Amino acid sequence: MHTVIPDQSISATLLKEVTIAKLQSRTANIGVIGLGYVGLPLALLFTEEGFPVTGFDIDSTKIDTLVSLRSYICRIPETEIALASDRGFRATSNFMWISKMDAIVICVPTPLTEYREPDLSYVTETVKSIAPHLKAGQLVVLESTTYPGTTEEIVVPLLEERNFSDLRVSRNDSEASNVVFVAFSPEREDPGNNTVARNEIPKIVGGVDRHASEIATALYGSIFSRTVPVSSTTVAEMTKLLENIYRCVNIALVNELKLLCLRMNIDIWEVIAAAATKPFGFQPFYPGPGLGGHCIPIDPFYLAWKAKEFDFATRFIELAGEINMAMPYHMVEFIAEALNVRCKALNGSKIMVLGVSYKKDIDDLRESPAITIIEALQKSGAIVVYNDPYFPKIGKGRKYDLQMQCVPLEQISQYDCVVILTDHSSYDYQKIVDEAQLVVDTRNATSGILSEKIVRC
Ligand SMILES: NC(=O)c1ccc[n+]([C@@H]2O[C@H](COP(=O)([O-])OP(=O)(O)OC[C@H]3O[C@@H](n4cnc5c(N)ncnc54)[C@H](O)[C@@H]3O)[C@@H](O)[C@H]2O)c1
Repeated sequence: MHTVIPDQSISATLLKEVTIAKLQSRTANIGVIGLGYVGLPLALLFTEEGFPVTGFDIDSTKIDTLVSLRSYICRIPETEIALASDRGFRATSNFMWISKMDAIVICVPTPLTEYREPDLSYVTETVKSIAPHLKAGQLVVLESTTYPGTTEEIVVPLLEERNFSDLRVSRNDSEASNVVFVAFSPEREDPGNNTVARNEIPKIVGGVDRHASEIATALYGSIFSRTVPVSSTTVAEMTKLLENIYRCVNIALVNELKLLCLRMNIDIWEVIAAAATKPFGFQPFYPGPGLGGHCIPIDPFYLAWKAKEFDFATRFIELAGEINMAMPYHMVEFIAEALNVRCKALNGSKIMVLGVSYKKDIDDLRESPAITIIEALQKSGAIVVYNDPYFPKIGKGRKYDLQMQCVPLEQISQYDCVVILTDHSSYDYQKIVDEAQLVVDTRNATSGILSEKIVRC
């Protein structure tokens, strides 16, 4: 352990001003930790804006892929990686480089454990890895979605405990000289949604103190067209959860109403389209076969867990979770019923699933309801294959152990039932309906196509 002797002439304000000046002149070294769906695009955005950027990841396959100028995310073409590399982007697993960074942004996963409790192990491991390399004046920002309090209760104490100098986290705008600055800024990306450019999504920023908030605002202000500073890290953390809980609850509401509409023989899609014409007070949400992705099915339960510490039951979250989690099983019942009407049993039927990613036009399988549905169909004795242009194969995941290869669409007529689980834009739905024996459509992808072969649910 070495001791850094603080130079008392360098106050926190001076450290802050130096870092902000580097950010404004785009000479600040930016480190992005966790080069996944969030971290890699962010690192590329900083690179594009002229910053020297280093990406850190413990996954050596990802680092090797980037070093050889290839991409592992469909929507990021290899040309973009090559261009970033020309502009100075580097990817590494060596955390020694942390000491050279001016701002460090953490974008690692925040999943749930098998008992549906927050799993912060990726965050804590990351903090332990960077703490020994920190130096005074650096900014550390957590972007991973998490419950209010994580930054100050988990990240800050770990940073102080694990660094091998006497660095402290700047608090209460003090003028201590041996400080790093810490902030939280949630990622608000909507994968597959190209209607808003990423840098046009306003960036929420909350610092542990005002110094941190000002540096983080300067960091994101250099690449986002608007930053929204809030008073604390907890407000920033809670803002992200409010956004995702709002989606989760409204999707649950529309999923439940879909089940009711099916029973009442009302077309929920037509109802939503009609309601969406109201110019105020209504935002359309759309039903589906269940919730997927790394955010909406998971994040609300971070808050539900934290609320227990305050003797508080988050009933909306629990109810929404219950409805959304049951949707894949309802879909299996609808498929069985559709086959039954044609005098076929689920047991032994050949079923082709179209689309396995959790939403259209993206290559992300995390928490996808397709996995639950395929597993449940197989358990009932169905012979299931799938097609998805984004997944040549499905291998073992965190919570499942499927071994499947994508089959071509050509032999669609051989299957007793085709189930549309993800409405990828590349599918020719008219052709699918023409060739299939039976189509169960969980996404309204066949809207406008008239055929007795279609069962919409
Ligand atoms: N994917 C989204 O659309 C989205 C949107 C908004 C917010 N978020 C949040 O952003 C965070 C990251 O999500 P993601 O989708 O990018 O996850 P991801 O799994 O795609 O990427 C995370 C990366 O972190 C790396 N990693 C894990 N532990 C590490 C460590 N100790 N050191 C360095 N790297 C490490 C992994 O190898 C992986 O490459 C999550 O908290 C998520 O909730 C995601």
